[in-house]
Amino acid sequence: MMTPQTVLMCPPDHFEIAYVINPWMEGQFANTDAALARRQWDGLRAALERHAKVALEPPQRALPDIVFTANAGLVLGKKVIVSRFRSPERRGEEPHHRAFFADNGFEILDWPSDIPFEGAGDALFDRGQSLLWAGHGFRSAAAVPALLEKLLGRKTAALNLVDPRFYHLDTCLCPLDGGYLLYFPPAFEERSRALIESLVAPSKRIAVEEEDALKFCCNAVDLDGHVFVNGASDSLRSRLRGAGFTPVITPLSEFMKAGGAAKCLTLKLVEE
Ligand code: ARG
Repeated sequence: MMTPQTVLMCPPDHFEIAYVINPWMEGQFANTDAALARRQWDGLRAALERHAKVALEPPQRALPDIVFTANAGLVLGKKVIVSRFRSPERRGEEPHHRAFFADNGFEILDWPSDIPFEGAGDALFDRGQSLLWAGHGFRSAAAVPALLEKLLGRKTAALNLVDPRFYHLDTCLCPLDGGYLLYFPPAFEERSRALIESLVAPSKRIAVEEEDALKFCCNAVDLDGHVFVNGASDSLRSRLRGAGFTPVITPLSEFMKAGGAAKCLTLKLVEE
């Protein structure tokens, strides 16, 4: 029996657009509908609760992006690397995440304070092989993949992100059960794309079109053969079904304005 999954989320009590640190946030200052954001977040939570436990981190005033718990840190077993945010706007989240992990029995690994690393937003475990995909280029520093490999003792593939709209790895790549990989190839530098192709067989690659990528279809939560996304075209849905997955659409327009969707709003606390 596999350990049941627990997903960390943080209620959007103080969610808003108060600054701009990615292209999605431009022109969105104070432009979110709080009631709609709450309904969408509740909808995602309810959908996930059919397949996993949901743990909650308390929301914090003046830290609107703390809802994006994918960026709290990177968990492996009972160890965690707590994020070191690139932007000062999000650094205030760090002590809250640290407290959450300490209170919940995680061993916090040392991480150098001068190396930005944005947790599971930029580091994703493959679901078919023992491999960690690590993104860098916009948020996490170039030194991050090698450091993760050393600290966690897990083979790590470094992927250089080149499109500012896909600034975190989890906005353009999602490992799925059975070794499938949902991804948007143009978000990666040529050599990184070649690395992906060398590590994942063609039959396991689900490359998406820009139209789907812009709906953050790669920002997916995979649980129990279900793939929870903000949006996906009919053709992508049928490709997912063809690979044995059940796509579930949970609209997250308010969070898209901040540059985040389903995966960003969650962090799996069980990673073996
Ligand atoms: N506004 C947030 C930021 O720019 C969104 C974070 C989205 N999180 C993610 N894991 N992609 O940092």
